[in-house]
Amino acid sequence: MKLTNEEQSMLQGENGKAVQKAMQILATLGKIYHAECLIPVTSVQVAGVSYDNLGEAGLEFLEEMVEGGGKARVLSTLNPAGMDISNWEALGIDSTFAHNQQRVIDAYTRMGIIPSCTCTPYLAGNLPHFGEHIAWAESSAVCFANSVLGARTNRDGGPSALASALTGRTPAYGYHLEENRQPELTVHVTQPDFSPLSVNNTWWFGALGKAIGLRFEGNDEQKILYITGIHLATMEDLKAFSASLATYCGAALFHMHGITPEASSVPQPSIDIKVSDEEIEEASLSMQTASAADVDFISLGCPHLSINEISHLAKLLEEKKVVREFWITTARSTKEIADRAGYTKSIEASGAKLVADTCCVVAPIKNRFHAMATDSAKACYYGSSKNAQLTRFLPFEQVIQLALIPPDNEKNQ
Ligand code: F3S
Repeated sequence: MKLTNEEQSMLQGENGKAVQKAMQILATLGKIYHAECLIPVTSVQVAGVSYDNLGEAGLEFLEEMVEGGGKARVLSTLNPAGMDISNWEALGIDSTFAHNQQRVIDAYTRMGIIPSCTCTPYLAGNLPHFGEHIAWAESSAVCFANSVLGARTNRDGGPSALASALTGRTPAYGYHLEENRQPELTVHVTQPDFSPLSVNNTWWFGALGKAIGLRFEGNDEQKILYITGIHLATMEDLKAFSASLATYCGAALFHMHGITPEASSVPQPSIDIKVSDEEIEEASLSMQTASAADVDFISLGCPHLSINEISHLAKLLEEKKVVREFWITTARSTKEIADRAGYTKSIEASGAKLVADTCCVVAPIKNRFHAMATDSAKACYYGSSKNAQLTRFLPFEQVIQLALIPPDNEKNQ
């Protein structure tokens, strides 16, 4: 791989040990993927933030990078942590975990990475434009950035995204190259006649992502899909769909006819499949492993909720009382708008928790809850695989309704 003089000097350690280590990571990655050179990036999203996933070894690596003088050279933001940084006690997080989580955040902050702690950086000040080369980790955000925004990123891992933050470079391979962004398979679907602006549609888009994923189960070859039949999708729908497709299909890029920016300039593949309504229904049913009575944990906000979703939720909870543990997760910057608009007050008066910086998957809650209700297909996957929870997959408003009904009244649902 060809390196510029500046990149060579980074590799030789002339900019400090952390930059040298970062350049070694990128050079190795470039070699594995036969990249011809590195390219500049202008935005980074770093994952690997929850102490629950990082552990002491991950934290030591970060602290070494701090000691080695690592400093972000481009706009760099952080994925969710394992707790609400300023309100962790209310979530039942223990103080040892909180101390270690804070060390992680401090390490990133000392490297100049903005502690935004959200998986929706595009709603929190890190919004790349069409064609911009970026280096993002966080599969749902990668799929959204490539597909919906038309930015160019691979599915970076935590260390490679950090390396890009410290050098402002990424190897030129994969989705950075135009020829690797062409669709290979057309997927026809029929969008139901649902109310176009309903917050409940995220549920259908999540089920669709899983239904498509089930078609490719056991097949490691990842194809770029060209999806037809969707006439209307809000940003929130595409956020849910990107998260689900990335989870169940490993997708980092899709094109959607009439909706995503590259769909009109790429050829629609002649090889095609149809994903039927029955398959979408089956995908949805496969995430119903818990009865309503089983549910002891309710979660909305995977990916993190937008202010529009929070405003709907606040209205639905007004003057109501929730009777099960209910976390609503979002970016801190979104929560601050919710505070100012009075949404937080309505939500918290109901007993639900409007939580920033974390989510139901990366918080250390394994074995605390038996069954989770959510509108998120991604949360169902990780709730079951990481946290050993049963799941109940419902539309947004039904999730809220369930939070209001005591388990004893739910026996027959
Ligand atoms: Fe975000 Fe956590 Fe879901 S990081 S996409 S809310 S699993």
